[in-house]
Amino acid sequence: MTAQEIRQLYLDYFKTKQHAIIPRALLVPQNDSSTLFTSSGMQPLIPYLLGEKHPFGNRLADSQTCLRAQDIPDVGDNRHTTFFEMLGNWSLGDYFKKDQLTWFFEFLTDKVGIDPQKLYVTCFIGNKTYDIPKDTESAEIWQKLFMTKNIVGKTVDIGSEENGGLKGMQNGRIFYYDDSKNWWCRAGGINAMPSGEPGGPDSEVFYEFDFIKHDSRFGKFCHPNCDCGRFMEIGNSVFMEYLRTEDNFIKLPNKNVDFGGGLERIAAASLNISDVFEISLLRPIIDELEKLSGLKYQSHQESMRVIADHLRAAVFLAADAVVPSNKTQGYVMRRLIRRAIRFAFDLGIEVGFLENVVSIIISLYIDDFPELKSQDKLIVDVLAREEKIFRQTLKKGLNQLNKLTGKLITGQDVFKLYDTYGFPTELSVEEVYRLDYQIEDDWQINFDKAMQLQRNRSRTAGKGVFKGGLGGNTEIHKKYHTATHLMYRALRQVLGDHVVQHGSNITEDRLRFDFSHPQKMTAEEITQVEDIVNKQINNDLVISFDEYPTKKAINELGALGAFGDRYGEIVKVYSMQDKNKGQLFSLEICGGPHVEHTAVLKEGNKKFKIIKEESSSAGIRRIKAVLI
Ligand code: SER
Repeated sequence: MTAQEIRQLYLDYFKTKQHAIIPRALLVPQNDSSTLFTSSGMQPLIPYLLGEKHPFGNRLADSQTCLRAQDIPDVGDNRHTTFFEMLGNWSLGDYFKKDQLTWFFEFLTDKVGIDPQKLYVTCFIGNKTYDIPKDTESAEIWQKLFMTKNIVGKTVDIGSEENGGLKGMQNGRIFYYDDSKNWWCRAGGINAMPSGEPGGPDSEVFYEFDFIKHDSRFGKFCHPNCDCGRFMEIGNSVFMEYLRTEDNFIKLPNKNVDFGGGLERIAAASLNISDVFEISLLRPIIDELEKLSGLKYQSHQESMRVIADHLRAAVFLAADAVVPSNKTQGYVMRRLIRRAIRFAFDLGIEVGFLENVVSIIISLYIDDFPELKSQDKLIVDVLAREEKIFRQTLKKGLNQLNKLTGKLITGQDVFKLYDTYGFPTELSVEEVYRLDYQIEDDWQINFDKAMQLQRNRSRTAGKGVFKGGLGGNTEIHKKYHTATHLMYRALRQVLGDHVVQHGSNITEDRLRFDFSHPQKMTAEEITQVEDIVNKQINNDLVISFDEYPTKKAINELGALGAFGDRYGEIVKVYSMQDKNKGQLFSLEICGGPHVEHTAVLKEGNKKFKIIKEESSSAGIRRIKAVLI
């Protein structure tokens, strides 16, 4: 079955269950400036989940195009894509757990034909603080459903993911996890929810690729939520019945269902193939790239995956009226297109690149998304124009970069590439990585300065010039330095691994930290980061350091490093550890100094607080935080 057929089958199936099929929302959210892109199926439906009446009734289904710009750096492996379709169905106060789980199971096994033996499910373990019960109801429904296929659905409590790593599968089929895995709201876990946010326990379905062996780097044992690649989540049923208040939860006016499942992933599972780029919506793009380059996918997977993903995203952005620019959505689009061209350049594809690839992409979607039909010329035009602008200077820019070999790359160099050759800063930084060059610590600041000068503004960047790292060695400096490490780790936990340090500066009054992240952090994300840091301060982590060969520190130990540091052969690696639990929270290459244990940060009844989050330059955010 092709992915296109699976999409149609899903919509048809839910039509037979009296659902109205609603059109997808645009990739750029309308009347909602809190996010740059629509990144899940439920996002456009928030008002209705809160109780407003939907014009099409209380049973809805669709296939929502989604974009997650934060995943750009992860594209290249076998499952990450920035653009994807989320199959969704919703009950607005109509059916609930039994129908939802039964229908999704039936769709997967009887309609798509997925082997039920390969399916594993998870349910919410409950939360004592807020008196939210364990979702035994869903577990019992799953047990009965598996029994209809003669599978014994043994139920197992795992609790947290970490706990899963210690306990493993235990012959289970149905697993309970806590709110870090089985609670859905837009803000992360239960504790991160702002007042007024709807959410609820969820139940996820995982597909097992039994030919993939567990990788112990991800924990001693494998379990459905393990990241080793053996299990892939293919659908999530959220039982949205709660509303967060200031200090508790109340029930929403309705018990809602919010289901979302990745079309590409379901298609990959149906083929028992762990590479989503092999499915019918992506493989033809790869075929075209093989044809144009004369190279094989097998030996050029990363480049071909990046091009296929990025151009697919760019086509839909163009269809949704985004044009490449230096701001917001347009900047992300520019970055996607230029990155695709850069990778195509590596494959030696120059002539006929965009037109050919874009028309293949359009042909894959044109029957199901009629808006592409009326706009196909415009889409090609928008992308081709951007290609033309960038191609003219790409070679020169790369030559310019090649000339810099052996030299320490400065912010001015990055600015010149940006200004003269149109390289998005992230692309230059990637090139620098790729070429194994060294870049000055303060490149971002110097880049900003060059930009400022060029704009001919009277205000210069001289004020508060960035010195990098510690401004002094007093106890308060050390505390802020330690807080910086905690916050760096927390930012990666909350926002993702694309967060890379671009600069750090500490005074007696505050810490300042620059890092890569494509959009403004939400209030919830900020609270989550603060909570993690304060929790680790309370846990009184013990801080110590050892010296290691640089390669070992980065490649084997996985220590974080501030991007652009010029490391010698041997580096100092600081660890922050919870001695009671034997858990390592942070491991970072750093010169020090730090305090000896984190609880001193709360001396005088102080708490860690983020007082400012702002843009520092394109793709780089800046945080100022205090202990107060
Ligand atoms: N909102 C849920 C998700 O995105 C289900 O649609 O996973």
